[in-house]
Amino acid sequence: MVKMILCVDLNGSIGKDNDLLFKMKEDMAFFKEQTRNNIVVMGYNTWLSLNEKELPNRKNIVLTNEDILNVETSNDIFKTISRYEKEDKDIYIIGGAYVYNECLKLKIVDEIFITIVPTVVEGADTKVDLSLMKDFKKKTKIKDFVHKEMRVSIWNWKR
Ligand SMILES: NC(=O)c1ccc[n+]([C@@H]2O[C@H](COP(=O)([O-])OP(=O)(O)OC[C@H]3O[C@@H](n4cnc5c(N)ncnc54)[C@H](OP(=O)(O)O)[C@@H]3O)[C@@H](O)[C@H]2O)c1
Repeated sequence: MVKMILCVDLNGSIGKDNDLLFKMKEDMAFFKEQTRNNIVVMGYNTWLSLNEKELPNRKNIVLTNEDILNVETSNDIFKTISRYEKEDKDIYIIGGAYVYNECLKLKIVDEIFITIVPTVVEGADTKVDLSLMKDFKKKTKIKDFVHKEMRVSIWNWKR
């Protein structure tokens, strides 16, 4: 299965200055638990935001046209999916906005894990197009937690 995991504000903003908008230990723990021992696929800018270091205990794949030697790369998401879907593992699309929007437009995402922070971040510079998720109508709340006096919710969305 191809799953997408992301954290957004109410406008769909996800980043600023090639970094995350929110650092929340509950959300990080959820991300780790979901993706551990699976496959994570990310864009080149997200790879740079991780200081070009692989996330541990997961197969890391970077979508890029660059030559990078210290991680597996791909410039064809379809080939990557067909190569790994034979394994008994999930493929997690972990960002950033370019890759989320690309995968949603290609309709290759089976389900979404989305953390929604009920605020609008001024000055955010990277945004996912929430309208591309409108087909995901089956919405189940996984958990709530409080961050800076806001009630943050983690959802699972399916078609
Ligand atoms: N809130 C969240 O959940 C979350 C999660 C992850 C990231 N982020 C944030 O998102 C921001 C980065 O997102 P972004 O949209 O700027 O970049 P990105 O999606 O991480 O990377 C985009 C780049 O990846 C490469 N790429 C993507 N698809 C490709 C394909 N099919 N074939 C070849 N190359 C491909 C291209 O670079 P090249 O052509 O140069 O190789 C493209 O410019 C940062 O602020 C980061 O912190 C937020």
